[in-house]
Amino acid sequence: MKYFMLNYGCQMNESDTEHYAGQLVEMGYTAEDDFHHADIIIINTCCVRESAEKRISGKIGKLKAVKAKNPDLVICVAGCMAQKDGEKLLKKHPQIDIILGTAYVNSFKSILTNYLKERRGAAYTDLTLHQGEFEGKMVRKSTFSAWIPIMYGCNNFCSYCIVPYVRGRERSRGEENILSEIKAAVKKGYSEFTLLGQNVNSYGKDTGSGAFSNLLRKADAIEGVERIRYMTSHPRDMGEDVVRAVAECGKVCENFHLPFQAGSNEILRRMNRGYTREKYLELVAMIREIVPSAAITTDIIVGFPGEAEKDFLDTLDLMKKVGFDAAFTFAYSRRSGTPAAVMEGQVPPDIKKARLHELMAVQNEESLKRNKMLIGQTVEVLAEGPGRKDDMWCGRTRTNKLVFWPVKDKKYAPGMRVSVKVEKAQTWLVKGTAVESG
Ligand code: 5AD
Ligand code: SF4
Repeated sequence: MKYFMLNYGCQMNESDTEHYAGQLVEMGYTAEDDFHHADIIIINTCCVRESAEKRISGKIGKLKAVKAKNPDLVICVAGCMAQKDGEKLLKKHPQIDIILGTAYVNSFKSILTNYLKERRGAAYTDLTLHQGEFEGKMVRKSTFSAWIPIMYGCNNFCSYCIVPYVRGRERSRGEENILSEIKAAVKKGYSEFTLLGQNVNSYGKDTGSGAFSNLLRKADAIEGVERIRYMTSHPRDMGEDVVRAVAECGKVCENFHLPFQAGSNEILRRMNRGYTREKYLELVAMIREIVPSAAITTDIIVGFPGEAEKDFLDTLDLMKKVGFDAAFTFAYSRRSGTPAAVMEGQVPPDIKKARLHELMAVQNEESLKRNKMLIGQTVEVLAEGPGRKDDMWCGRTRTNKLVFWPVKDKKYAPGMRVSVKVEKAQTWLVKGTAVESG
């Protein structure tokens, strides 16, 4: 029995996909790269923007012919789009057998077992279900870097965002459960850990199990852990305690991903973000003071309803004031069911596109400038794997910069620590020579 997986969306989805794969392996399935030969296909979906949904719908449509040729094939659509559209998807695409909402990750094995007995399609979309603690096996994609979900769901209700509706309310995992997962992964050779949640800064608030900064300190104390990362932070909830924990914990990487979304106070208010540009700049100043070597990255949306030219200029201005190491930029996408979808002043697509291009041009220049600052420095890299051409390897610095270096006659393995002297800088990466490894 063979499975084929297709994953879309964020790191949380990647982590969920690894859980699905783990449960399939427990049931005796093996991985298959060609979906024509699979007995089960799982598509783990995203609906954060319309573009993702369109791509996924196209993929699901194509599976109709595959199912027609192989009626025993099980097609399972999981994740955020499955949660959002549930029964509707089943009706529109009769080739789908199982719709698995986001709260059913841990129940997948029993749902599939039942399905195989009765062969009756169904949609599972109750969002109030608490998944509980994850105990099962996992098939991780990386051999050295592990995703560790620490909380599920989101309570923020930013007015543009669909996530609270498809991932439900915030539910924190127990601290012991998280730490024991990290320890178990260390035993299997994992050394880099990324703690995942839609808003990690509010970890433990629902359960009273303690602050996120305490969790960072406890993870930092685990022997065998080399690097700890986390995402995503909400600027409103990012406290000084977390910044101090980053400064004081040797394994926690000095990389702050802090989405600011918009630079205009009026737009921030309409987005329901809960901070002003002044507050955001104060936060950046605090980080730079406590962790001077910090890399700061962000997410930005252009073309939010009501965004006038002057609001967009505020976004450009904030961007220039901070000087981000990298920025993920998006054109606002109307998500039905969210407050912003029915706001007045929807911005025409051509204006969104033009603003997006302008933003990207400014960021590309800044990224290049910041990468050039690394020239001449020796950086610590965790090796990831060979580049597109086998004569180069690549890996990442603690600040999450992508580094390439020539292999020459050395043998590298994923997870190996390599010191690289940076010689050249481009917008998205730097290149250098390995000076030491082990
Ligand atoms: N349109 C465009 N971008 C969005 N994001 C979330 N919702 C939308 C939307 N409706 C972006 C935000 C968030 C990132 C993960 O996706 O910038 O931080
Ligand atoms: Fe996409 Fe958001 Fe769901 Fe992640 S949580 S898969 S980004 S919709």
